[in-house]
Amino acid sequence: MKGLAIAANGLRKSYGDKTVLDGVDLAVPEGTIFALLGPNGAGKTTAVKILSTLVSPDPASGEIRVGGHDLAADPQAVRAAIGVTGQFSAVDGLITGEENMLLMADLHHLSRDEGRRAAARLLERFDLVEAAKKPASTYSGGMKRRLDIAMTLVGGPRIIFLDEPTTGLDPRSRHTMWQIIRELVSDGVTVFLTTQYLEEADELADRIAVLNDGRIAAEGTAGELKRLVPGGHVRLRFSDPARHRDALSALADAIGDDEALTVQIPSGGSQRELRSVLDRLDRAGIEADELTVHTPDLDNVFFALTGSAGLPHQSKESVR
Ligand SMILES: Nc1ncnc2c1ncn2[C@@H]1O[C@H](COP(=O)(O)OP(=O)(O)OP(=O)(O)O)[C@@H](O)[C@H]1O
Ligand SMILES: [Mg+2]
Repeated sequence: MKGLAIAANGLRKSYGDKTVLDGVDLAVPEGTIFALLGPNGAGKTTAVKILSTLVSPDPASGEIRVGGHDLAADPQAVRAAIGVTGQFSAVDGLITGEENMLLMADLHHLSRDEGRRAAARLLERFDLVEAAKKPASTYSGGMKRRLDIAMTLVGGPRIIFLDEPTTGLDPRSRHTMWQIIRELVSDGVTVFLTTQYLEEADELADRIAVLNDGRIAAEGTAGELKRLVPGGHVRLRFSDPARHRDALSALADAIGDDEALTVQIPSGGSQRELRSVLDRLDRAGIEADELTVHTPDLDNVFFALTGSAGLPHQSKESVR
């Protein structure tokens, strides 16, 4: 069985009397993508900074291990295992993209040759060869972001923290970034990312945690999270208007659409709930031409968990 790349118990952080993280547990298996979601100010960047040794957690926190190393006891070992791309760019605009890369190679104590090779390989991979000799201040936002991540990879980290890697990127650049992130993971790298984009978490993450009010409001796969909020339904489609009418009158809680000849029955996405819907259809002798299961999307989940009408702490949901 694979180990955990990141394990945190009761992670806490306050600034003055403001509690930012109020007991956060995290467990990220090696070689997976973990997405931390949350509204502005939820504490995502704070969590990334703590896990990457840039900010210290409150002493009341439990044990935090990153890359198998105790964060408090051996921050140097943690630093050697990780790469961090912050929410705000670390690119130096006054020097070229290539010089930025070589600077990182120096920081990682690569030899001159190794540094040049690593820089060339990564500039190529991130499609920055043409721009490599130009000052980074002339780069577009997307190019800067790519350079940022390329710089993070110079030291060959096994665990990468990406704080909002695609904020401000156009759809094409975003898809390129997703592709890069997937490639990293197929090489065995663990990725911890924060994002405002639910679609991004849905696309990339093996597991997603929603941070709200200093705590994890819910955690699970995208599918598990979607099943937490109402809005799921089974939709039946008929070609025969008479059978559509029969179905509608046989199912008390169903909502019909006379034009599309569809019937919607509220239902969560679980096997048990689906079976109960099918049993009801059987008993009523209803046979649809098409049956599809619809789950709410992550937007629904996000608003349900983080809105002003969000769940109070006591009703924290666990879907492990
Ligand atoms: N150095 C600091 N001193 C005081 N307060 C801070 C400090 N850093 C962060 N905070 C506060 O902690 C809270 C969480 O900030 P953080 O940057 O972690 O949020 P975030 O989830 O990353 O937000 P965003 O989505 O806007 O990036 C905010 O209320 C912020 O004002
Ligand atoms: Mg942030």
